[in-house]
Amino acid sequence: MNADTTASTRTVAEIAAASPETIGVAVARLTEGRLVSFPTETVYGLGADATNDRAVAKIFKAKQRPSFNPLICHFADIDSVHAMLEIPGPAQKLAARFWPGSLSIVVPRPTNCPISRLASAGLDTIAVRVPDHPVATELLRVAGIPVAAPSANRSGRLSPTRAKDVMASLGDQDVMVLDGGPCRIGVESTVVAIAPDGPVELMREGGISREALEVVLGTAIKKITTPDSVRSPGMLARHYEPQVPLRLDATDTRGGEILLCLGPLPSNAPPGSRSLSPTGDLTEAAANLFAALHDAETMAVAGIAVSPIPDQGLGRAINDRLRRGANG
Ligand code: TXA
Ligand code: MG
Repeated sequence: MNADTTASTRTVAEIAAASPETIGVAVARLTEGRLVSFPTETVYGLGADATNDRAVAKIFKAKQRPSFNPLICHFADIDSVHAMLEIPGPAQKLAARFWPGSLSIVVPRPTNCPISRLASAGLDTIAVRVPDHPVATELLRVAGIPVAAPSANRSGRLSPTRAKDVMASLGDQDVMVLDGGPCRIGVESTVVAIAPDGPVELMREGGISREALEVVLGTAIKKITTPDSVRSPGMLARHYEPQVPLRLDATDTRGGEILLCLGPLPSNAPPGSRSLSPTGDLTEAAANLFAALHDAETMAVAGIAVSPIPDQGLGRAINDRLRRGANG
């Protein structure tokens, strides 16, 4: 028995407000090997049963994601992680402090691991995370399986922080979108791994700041900067490509651009401009970033000028996304 037989190119995404009933429907879909987009505190995910190869393959197909780029597996709680995987010593403190939360930890794949090898994209590791969002937690708890979920956007495009952004990107796919409102953090999880010689390394800046990790570890943390196709293939993939040109560290706006700024919006800013945080709060700015870029894509603007963002705390995650978007 397989729900695939009814799937066709005519099938379009369904959107439903998250409730105990619709979460039940979503769990049934996951169990049938179909896709569900769900809110997390960072961004919306495109989920499938992580133990089902065919279901995981559907994620790659729907997103047009390069098959070398592995997926994060989501668990309901830390005990379910421990039941399937071992967190290496140096990362245990981070898991204890930050889960549930916006931290993904790359751990070794145990032998006889039920998680699809496709989710690991052929690596001998798996990225895991326990999200901190009531809808995600309930979905994972009721499903009772790990759920592989990249951000719910076409590969290389902006991550979605609202259900309508998922629909705009994946609306022609056989996916159920659980609408749980806008995501609180707004940038993807921080990804860490354990270096072969022991220390925790930063693979991606994200919702938990580097400074917060360093406080818990009691040491400075090194960021992997050179793309390493063996350990961090995601750094090779195209990313965060807005459909309008981005110009960073802008101090003015030029023909047809709108302004995205931090702090009060200047009174002479072109219509459509906005402040990511009128009070200059980087956490608020991160939460508003992708929605602001998505909205700019839907307006006929010539470009987006972004005023300087301090490279500290969540500012690092914001700048990482913006730089990659500007280079795209
Ligand atoms: O906040 C998030 O992390 C969101 C929500 C849905 O949880 N998910 C997300 O997934 O951003 P995605 O696929 O867009 O980004 C996952 C990143 C990619 O850069 C991928 O290469 C990396 O994590 N990754 C996943 N598994 C890995 C592994 N085993 N080793 C190294 N990097 C891995
Ligand atoms: Mg992504």
